[in-house]
Amino acid sequence: MNIGVLCSGGDAPGMNAAIRSAVRQGLALDARMVGFRYGFDGLIDANYVELAARSVGGILDQGGTFLGTGRSARFMTEEGRRAAVDQLAALDVDRLVVIGGDGSMRGALELCRLGVPVVGVPGTIDNDLWGTEATIGFDTCLNTILDAVSKLRDTASAHDRVFVVEVMGRGSGELAVNAALGGGADFVIVPEAPAERGLAAEHVAYDHWRGKLHTIIIVAEGCCRASEVAADLAAAAQGHEVRVSVLGHIQRGGHPSARDRILGARMGAAAVQALAEGASEVMVGLRAEEMVLVPLADVVSRKKVLDTSLLELVKTLAL
Ligand code: F6P
Repeated sequence: MNIGVLCSGGDAPGMNAAIRSAVRQGLALDARMVGFRYGFDGLIDANYVELAARSVGGILDQGGTFLGTGRSARFMTEEGRRAAVDQLAALDVDRLVVIGGDGSMRGALELCRLGVPVVGVPGTIDNDLWGTEATIGFDTCLNTILDAVSKLRDTASAHDRVFVVEVMGRGSGELAVNAALGGGADFVIVPEAPAERGLAAEHVAYDHWRGKLHTIIIVAEGCCRASEVAADLAAAAQGHEVRVSVLGHIQRGGHPSARDRILGARMGAAAVQALAEGASEVMVGLRAEEMVLVPLADVVSRKKVLDTSLLELVKTLAL
């Protein structure tokens, strides 16, 4: 067996744990392990490195990904994908682990359709993939957001201000709603329930009527900008100043949490085991704390459903 590993899309803390695990599990099965740099571009350009057990030493607790990652425009073309398949054949790499988010799983499926056996590993801070309860990076990112929200609450209370905090999550409110619950925010606005934005001003006015010293509103970037929400709130804040904080790419960095390291360790190994047993066109997922394999075709065509009852819970707990 000759197994390639690559990361694609936005990096996520815990990707290194998944690479390390895939490599060492592969070596334990007597496979040759090859890492491709900077995502699918690494396949097209044959930008690769042979990986031994020591090559992946010391990376378990590091954020980012030591292989690099990227979103390849060339791989979006038929020509680029064919070039990638040809390079894999030239390098004798006969199966592949792709670690990434939804775009990466689409790329993985395209490769399968061109005859390359691929198993996906869900690595994205967004936790927006169908078929898995958790993606690598989500937990660390959430903890980074909670740390920021706690700090913002300190200064919000000191000045009796309203803060609108914008968090990542391209088309998904998973990060926002969980940050609101874990961070004790007063209100949350997510792409899955955009109409909530219209209720934010009323909620802020109510908060101040109740004597709260601060109001924290979390906005998922995939719904609208924090600055737009802040503009909506200007009148309702009744003299309380409104400030905006866009957390940005800080959310993607940092040492992976215990949960993401363990998830990476389990998922990387599960992907290689699945490839060794002849599986392909699947992604490793977490269901009820167990590793499962889910069809890539479902992962890319189905949408993870956000539990929107949590939006009401956020409001209730903000009493
Ligand atoms: O998909 C992960 C993610 O961090 C999203 O939450 C965000 O919208 C996007 O990537 C940002 O991408 P980039 O790093 O290209 O700005």
